[in-house]
Amino acid sequence: MIAKTSTCSLLGIDAILVEVEVDIASGLPGLSVVGLPDNIVKESKDRVKAAIQNSGYPFPFERITVNLAPAALKKEGAGFDLPIAVGILAAMGLVNADKAAKMVFCGELALDGRVKPVAGCLPMAIRARDSGYTDMVLPADNAREAAVLTQTGGRPAREADGQPGSGDSPPGASFSVRPANHLSEVVEYCNGRSELPVLKTDPNTLWRVDVAEDLDFEDVKGQEHAKRGLEVAAAGNHNVLMIGPPGSGKTMLAQRVSGILPPLSFEEALETSTVYSVAGLLNNTPLIARRQFRAPHHSISDAGLVGGGQIPKPGEVSLAHNGVLFLDEFPEFRRNVIDLLRQPLEGGQVTIARAAIALTYPARFMLIGAMNPCPCGYSGDPVRPCSCSPATVTRYRGRISGPILDRIDLHIEVPAVKYEQLRSEGQAEKSACVRERVTKARRIQLERFPDEGIYSNSQMRPKHLKKFCRLDEAGQSMFDKAVRQLGLSARAYHRILKVARTIADLEASENIGSVHLLEAIQYRSLDRKMF
Ligand SMILES: Nc1ncnc2c1ncn2[C@@H]1O[C@H](COP(=O)(O)OP(=O)(O)O)[C@@H](O)[C@H]1O
Ligand SMILES: [Mg+2]
Repeated sequence: MIAKTSTCSLLGIDAILVEVEVDIASGLPGLSVVGLPDNIVKESKDRVKAAIQNSGYPFPFERITVNLAPAALKKEGAGFDLPIAVGILAAMGLVNADKAAKMVFCGELALDGRVKPVAGCLPMAIRARDSGYTDMVLPADNAREAAVLTQTGGRPAREADGQPGSGDSPPGASFSVRPANHLSEVVEYCNGRSELPVLKTDPNTLWRVDVAEDLDFEDVKGQEHAKRGLEVAAAGNHNVLMIGPPGSGKTMLAQRVSGILPPLSFEEALETSTVYSVAGLLNNTPLIARRQFRAPHHSISDAGLVGGGQIPKPGEVSLAHNGVLFLDEFPEFRRNVIDLLRQPLEGGQVTIARAAIALTYPARFMLIGAMNPCPCGYSGDPVRPCSCSPATVTRYRGRISGPILDRIDLHIEVPAVKYEQLRSEGQAEKSACVRERVTKARRIQLERFPDEGIYSNSQMRPKHLKKFCRLDEAGQSMFDKAVRQLGLSARAYHRILKVARTIADLEASENIGSVHLLEAIQYRSLDRKMF
């Protein structure tokens, strides 16, 4: 007898619906899986057999053929165990075949029949729902990742961005996710002998409340210039490079930037959560509510940074999607690793070549780099002498290639804090206040670019600069003079205009004035000094 059921396979951050056909026929006993399975899917045979037997069901002593369709798609991962086991039992008449054919199953099986978590539950559930299925079984250990599809009252209410729940029923209102712990539970449910309770989600608990909020700008003493620079960067989504001696607070400042970025929109949260689900890092939470801060070590591998590997996984650039990618000790990263950042910085995504197919992961992030001015760290320091030769200093700075430097709009100098400042009791501004200003400036940008296909000042191309960054006569002549006197390049010229636009937006000023330009020019001073 032939039985059919369905499952999903990951392709990048999307999932593809896969049909599982099982045929049991007389012949030499054995189990073969056809339809381009990878090694992990092939090993499924042994796990499925043990799981079925150890759950108390007989395993057929006949020839079993499992076909995974579409055959042209390479099947990866261990999530096929459960659908294959259900399919075999259905072909044997031990599971209601009609019921199994109408459902989607994903899950890895342990030898004793327990259902183990799989990566990518969120995109898989979205695919199942969009393909018209209404019933899906997922591993109990991470089924909650699909909770956003099963919420009861429309969009979640959020106080943070002032968008109350819209109340409209999402398309998934009739979509049921059923968490399962054991193969036998699934069999009993399909046969109508017991219920497999559906996952219910209260929209108000959908957003993960992150305790990491305790990293606040107010902890950083002094450094007003650096904080202002980071505020401007956050407001226009500009990439920044912080330069200063060791211990001046660069790492500390960077760690607090995701806290001054505007809250994630529902769509952004869904995008980021999907990446984490595929990476197996969502940890059974429904949605990520906070902009992520990723700080990979400089010894990171190529695949670790941009994604890929034996079982393809998103890399750090994708885990930072809609958030911050912080590269501390920037020049310590291998040059070719840094150069890999060019594609995501340019296009907001990464493409990874696989055997017959290219996978794409989203990777739109704000880049923050931090570096010492030289290997010893004290070049240009007013107090401590620098022990590096000029040649070493030049070589050290040369490690950051031009094309990457080209995509960094602001250079922020972070000098050592004075002792008096460090022990002063003065109250610094809280992240929440800064975030409010940043959010307002971002809103102005969203309204500015509705037809341009971009959403922040950092993405402006020359035609946008012409349209949105006009200077008045006084501003233009001041700018011309500054460019000539400081010997700024054409590259710096465009960066300054974009940053000046953001500074004007922070003041809700329609025109870019001389003050805005002057401040923006400050953030390029290192061009001449250092590179
Ligand atoms: N401006 C500051 N305000 C408060 N503490 C600071 C400041 N700068 C540095 N520190 C202290 O010094 C430590 C080292 O700072 P860090 O951010 O690691 O410096 P860097 O990354 O520039 O080498 C911090 O953990 C913090 O305790
Ligand atoms: Mg540091």
